[in-house]
Amino acid sequence: MKTIKEIKNLKNKKVLMRVGFNVPIGDSGIVNEKEDWRIRAALPMIEYLLEKEAKIILMGHLGRPELSQKPIKSKAHKVKSQKHSLRPVARRLGELLDREIKFVDDCVGNEAKDVALKMQAGDIVLLENLRFYKQEEENDEEFAKNLAELADIYVNNAFSVSHRAHASVCAVTKFLPSYAGLLLEKEIKLLSEAIHNSKRPSTIIIGGAKAKTKLPVVKFVMDKFDHILVGGVVANVILKAKGIDTGKSLLGDVDLEEAKKIDLDNNKLYIPFDVIVCNSRIKRAELSPVGKIGDERILDIGPDTEELFSKIIADSETIIWNGPMGKFENENFLSGTKKVAEAVVKSKGYKIVGGGDTITALDQLGYLDDIDYVCTGGGAMLVFLAGKKLPGIEALN
Ligand code: 3PG
Repeated sequence: MKTIKEIKNLKNKKVLMRVGFNVPIGDSGIVNEKEDWRIRAALPMIEYLLEKEAKIILMGHLGRPELSQKPIKSKAHKVKSQKHSLRPVARRLGELLDREIKFVDDCVGNEAKDVALKMQAGDIVLLENLRFYKQEEENDEEFAKNLAELADIYVNNAFSVSHRAHASVCAVTKFLPSYAGLLLEKEIKLLSEAIHNSKRPSTIIIGGAKAKTKLPVVKFVMDKFDHILVGGVVANVILKAKGIDTGKSLLGDVDLEEAKKIDLDNNKLYIPFDVIVCNSRIKRAELSPVGKIGDERILDIGPDTEELFSKIIADSETIIWNGPMGKFENENFLSGTKKVAEAVVKSKGYKIVGGGDTITALDQLGYLDDIDYVCTGGGAMLVFLAGKKLPGIEALN
């Protein structure tokens, strides 16, 4: 993979850079300062390009705009709603860099071309949400070519969307010399080292609701980490696959036969042995050993499991965490996630976390600043940790 550092002279070069600025926008239409970490993560790369006197054209997406039912005059196809506009991101980026960021209302077309043509060294432009065009998600070559025409060089600095075969991530690389940005390079390096070359003992904690994307991670990391701690819906699936009663617990959209193919009896794999359950009728949280769930639902790990997980985490030199231990948004089921978070921050090991819910939980608990590296990609991190190829990285190769 070629990286941007290989280009010696970037002076006056127009650099089209895919960024991962998918951040929450508050009701007031501004980026909350506490939630701008994905923008902050890209600052070193932008500053590097400024130092080299490049012309910087940033492109990204925000949310998932809906398909328009009515024909739209432009070729956008999607509803160009204000809530999906990247304009507030341009404002926040300007504040962070203390510079003017020119925002262009459309990512392709005459205005974008015109602005790109008139840029001076050190100018920064942010294009409107790429996903207002359905061609973006279709990896459409014509659309990618229109984007590529704006610049001389393409940079992917968005690990967080590199698991998507989208036009601004993949097809665009066919039309411009293409390089990995500093942030993409850093995130690949950190995760690769954690998987293949980490300080031992190493522990990976997998939880959360999306069991379908987490189960392949459990399978892949089994011989790569010393301890695999599992909570959340993915733990329910493993319990069920082992033939243990999980009552009415959520199982996600998972094929149990797939789960059974994993070495579930491996002694590196730790699953909850006591849990907090809730009955949908009485809505009361109760402690229960696993195996006796009846018509209840598992919503958190229990205190004995918390204790064991915390001990393992305390002795770990490398820790990766993606996914909370339970339904942490409800304080009745926060304890497992809280205890794991406390153990993670107290541990002297190197800590990497990823995934929106895990980051939210750590932030709410006031622990986010104690994490060594917060990965910008949730879904992308899981694909990487499952040992699968990311289309965006493949395209650069
Ligand atoms: C993210 O927020 O994880 C990335 O921006 C990817 O977004 P997506 O899941 O909508 O593709």
